[in-house]
Amino acid sequence: MTLDDVDAVTALDRRAFGESGWSRRYFVGELTESPISVFYVLIDRDRRLLGYFGTWHVVDQLQLCTFAIDPGAHGLGLGAVLLNCVFRLAQRLGCEIVQLEVRQSNAAARGLYRSRGFNEDAVRRNFYAHPREDGILMSAPTPPALETGFGRSAAARWPSGLALDWDDRAGRAAERWPAR
Ligand SMILES: CC(C)(COP(=O)(O)OP(=O)(O)OC[C@H]1O[C@@H](n2cnc3c(N)ncnc32)[C@H](O)[C@@H]1OP(=O)(O)O)[C@@H](O)C(=O)NCCC(=O)NCCS
Repeated sequence: MTLDDVDAVTALDRRAFGESGWSRRYFVGELTESPISVFYVLIDRDRRLLGYFGTWHVVDQLQLCTFAIDPGAHGLGLGAVLLNCVFRLAQRLGCEIVQLEVRQSNAAARGLYRSRGFNEDAVRRNFYAHPREDGILMSAPTPPALETGFGRSAAARWPSGLALDWDDRAGRAAERWPAR
């Protein structure tokens, strides 16, 4: 994610999270003032924004602090693909564990995280505002091998796999998921 992405990301964040979403200024701060922040966008070949995630890298932990797929593209397996990108990032940064909080009522996200090996570790009372709600603290060990598979809905949607082109501070890397 770069500053050029922030308008589109803020608009998607608002659609995904409503009142409890982040402001444009907050995203800009994450990209320009926070040394621990590592943020990515998922875009298609036409450079349309499909999703994004943000992480905080703290020693051997990667905290997933924001994560969303465009509501028009839900149920296509992109959430599973993007979560695998989070694991790939954790591997690249040498993190042993990925942690996150999720709203108790967020069945889709909890289902996604559980399906990718996350455990529900604790309940954080009144963790969220707008509306006030408990948060579920979840964590997963970073898989030791390269994560190149994806979930059932992605496998059904793209039987011949997906070509992913990583572009970040570490350079460019092309990957095919699932690996053949
Ligand atoms: C959570 C979210 C990212 C899922 O994205 P998605 O692209 O629709 O999810 P996928 O199609 O990749 O589904 C992957 C898995 O998620 C789970 N899942 C997805 N939608 C679900 C739903 N409505 N109910 C229950 N489980 C669901 C399933 O386990 C699914 O696995 P399967 O493919 O083997 O069936 C998406 O709903 C979203 O952006 N929500 C708004 C923002 C948000 O809540 N972010 C998380 C904050 S912690």
